[in-house]
Amino acid sequence: MAPAEIGVIGGSGFYAFLEDVTEVRIDTPYGAPSDSLFFGEIAGRRVAFLPRHGRDHAIPPHRINYRANLWALRAAGVTQIVAPCAVGGLQAELGPGTLVVPDQLVDRTSGRVQTYFDGVPAPVVHTSFADPYCPAGRSVAIATARGADWQPVDGGTLVVIEGPRFSTRAESRWYGAQGWSIVGMTGHPEAVLARELGLCFTAIALVTDLDAGVEQGEGVTHAEVLEVFAKNVGRLRTLLFDVVAAMPAERTCACGADDVPRPE
Ligand code: ADE
Repeated sequence: MAPAEIGVIGGSGFYAFLEDVTEVRIDTPYGAPSDSLFFGEIAGRRVAFLPRHGRDHAIPPHRINYRANLWALRAAGVTQIVAPCAVGGLQAELGPGTLVVPDQLVDRTSGRVQTYFDGVPAPVVHTSFADPYCPAGRSVAIATARGADWQPVDGGTLVVIEGPRFSTRAESRWYGAQGWSIVGMTGHPEAVLARELGLCFTAIALVTDLDAGVEQGEGVTHAEVLEVFAKNVGRLRTLLFDVVAAMPAERTCACGADDVPRPE
């Protein structure tokens, strides 16, 4: 199989991406990824698609084998990852249908393994993560969305909760009061594992609901998330095609810096 260059990790409601694909099962030292990788091509760029929850959405956020997923993508040759995800809005102006390209992340998960550097013996490695997302990938995502007339929110903080439950109103109000923008369940440890592996990682968040602290009704439901996602999935898929096509052929960012230890 010719190596891929760009990885796309599809989230809730996004289980297939390319039409003409070759399916490859990849095993990793961390066990099996969420599903096979689906290899294909967009505008001459080799792409590997991985449905984050599995193609049947059988894996909840807290049970995803994030280490295996990222490892498999690197093994496939991927150096840049585009990661769409469904999120709730924590600010009233970030309603359903809003596209956010976050530039910061807050980890509110618990108990997820978030490093490759925990074996024995292993080097002690403290990964720099001040800016969790690839600046080049973010610029491409923002410019491409603008070009497609889907004005994205440039920046903002994604809070990642453990799930699988949604937040209480108090939790949600607290997150919003910090000035944080959006809340989801899968953005961590995906981004940090990508960084440990030296992969560029760009999150593209689609707001599917106003989270419990901002909306006036009954609170968020899974059905609502899937319904709004389904309404937007065609548009998101088109956008992702354009983003993949516009990703830099040569990396000039520091995400894959070669003076940093990498897990082997
Ligand atoms: N994914 C989609 N909407 C969400 C919400 N409100 N909270 C957490 N994850 C979500």
